[in-house]
Amino acid sequence: MEHETLNLLHRRVSIRKFKPEMPDEETLTKLLEATIAAPSAGNLQNYTIIQIADPQRKKALNKLCMEQDCVDSAPLAFIFLADTSRFNRYAASQGGSGHFTWLFNYVLHTTDAAIAAQNMVIAAEALGLGSVYIGSILNRMLDMIEFLDLPEYVLPAAMLSVGWPDEKPEPKPRHPVEMVLHKETYRHDSLTELSELYRERNENFCGRYQAHPRKNELCQGIGEVNYPKYVSLAHYTEDKMIERGSEMLKGMKQAKFL
Ligand SMILES: Cc1cc2nc3c(=O)[nH]c(=O)nc-3n(C[C@H](O)[C@H](O)[C@H](O)COP(=O)(O)O)c2cc1C
Repeated sequence: MEHETLNLLHRRVSIRKFKPEMPDEETLTKLLEATIAAPSAGNLQNYTIIQIADPQRKKALNKLCMEQDCVDSAPLAFIFLADTSRFNRYAASQGGSGHFTWLFNYVLHTTDAAIAAQNMVIAAEALGLGSVYIGSILNRMLDMIEFLDLPEYVLPAAMLSVGWPDEKPEPKPRHPVEMVLHKETYRHDSLTELSELYRERNENFCGRYQAHPRKNELCQGIGEVNYPKYVSLAHYTEDKMIERGSEMLKGMKQAKFL
């Protein structure tokens, strides 16, 4: 049993091509029941999952998520929300206090929502479904509040596209455990150690990126291209980080977590 679970964790990969068929109700019930078995702070389950299956809504969602093919092709999108609205309202109505309204609560319950999402990823794999996280759900918080009709104290934390897989990618390499695991206190790695850590990714990237017209286009103007330059100067640019971060702050203010 232990090995079965470990095998599942090792074989799971993100799926970005899906068959058009909707998963059946029985499979979906199993998926969602396994999802909400996730741990949560105080077992409060201060998260909500919005399922989007309507093709027009999915198209509109995709526009807000930077037009990724997989959002369109997957029959289902699940948006995981940090949600203290439900408990706040109930507690206040029962003589308690609806004070789960602070930045602390936002962070705590965003974590709950992300943990539930990862349960869905693993349950999907066990059921033969495929899934991929869509990080761009966080890019346009204000538009997302409107699109999902979110009340105060509710904000998106994570999103998954889910469906029957129509591809079988190989698992991607990971950093070795000894580089990720620090013991007792933080280990301050030297630049030589970091260069060694990223060497393989750098070599693989340089061999492959030329074949990608979009990556090529993004790399215009950054001089000689390598993996860290591509990631930091072309893909996750500082401008984008600042713009999305400031949009996130506005979302947090609108949701009253700030
Ligand atoms: C928080 C988060 C956001 C992600 N956002 C996207 C995304 O927007 N689009 C996408 O195609 N993949 C996205 N991914 C998937 C990662 O690219 C993927 O997990 C990573 O490359 C490792 O590959 P694997 O999942 O196949 O092991 C995201 C993953 C995480 C955890």
